[in-house]
Amino acid sequence: MLNFAIETARDAGRILLEKFGRIDTVTKKGDINLVTEADLASEALIIERIKSHFPRHSILAEEAGNAVVIGGEGGHKWIIDPLDGTTNYAHGYPCFCVTIALENDGEIVLGVTYDPTRDELFTAEKGKGAALNGKPMRVSSTDILGNSLLVTGFPYDIKQREDFARHLTELLLNSRGVRRDGSAALDMAYVACGRFDGFWEEGLNPWDVAAGKILIEEAGGTVTYYDGSQFSIYRPPVCASNGLIHSEMLGYLK
Ligand code: IPD
Ligand code: CA
Ligand code: CA
Repeated sequence: MLNFAIETARDAGRILLEKFGRIDTVTKKGDINLVTEADLASEALIIERIKSHFPRHSILAEEAGNAVVIGGEGGHKWIIDPLDGTTNYAHGYPCFCVTIALENDGEIVLGVTYDPTRDELFTAEKGKGAALNGKPMRVSSTDILGNSLLVTGFPYDIKQREDFARHLTELLLNSRGVRRDGSAALDMAYVACGRFDGFWEEGLNPWDVAAGKILIEEAGGTVTYYDGSQFSIYRPPVCASNGLIHSEMLGYLK
């Protein structure tokens, strides 16, 4: 199944790259929440592949409107974001990815995030570790928040989120810096491979974080809620880190 997910993510990524910089129509799903023909073409390919290879599995896909449930026997569910980083993509900013995870009986068992612009493939399987382009990857060893590089995202409904500015200020003042790259799935993949030491964000959806959760956990990191309790991909917010700076981060996310 991992090979299937890898091949599918690579093929969907090829579609994104072919259309990159050539998008004529951008549709709005909300005030600042966009969708392009590339999101739709990538998702159509992924759904078609899953249906033909695993006709009994369920699919939770962003553009299909939350859930396309096909069969569902055996408890397998594919959770996909065909283009994470649509705003970047629509503006020609090369920071986006395809992200695919498989859940079995409520547990994420594999995750694949593919960045076609850098040809970087992040993979993880439950109990088997995580890899970047086939080489084992680990979270960073930064053990003090003051030495860390963090990343976050600004939710689409940011106007309704009172605590966001406070969290951002506190973590900015107490780390080496905070980046905002515009693709939550890539942000989490970068925590998994040690480029970032920590990530936090609210207002995300299951398809934004499903692969990232297993990538980080299999790379030795920690993924929780802001109060440190067990994280479910179905209910953001999320705080993810290399584990070593986790409690310091949580201290500022109250
Ligand atoms: C978005 C990106 C972004 C995050 C948003 C997501 P999309 O996904 O992951 O980084 O801040 O909350 O919705 O819309 O580009 O698939
Ligand atoms: Ca997304
Ligand atoms: Ca998306």
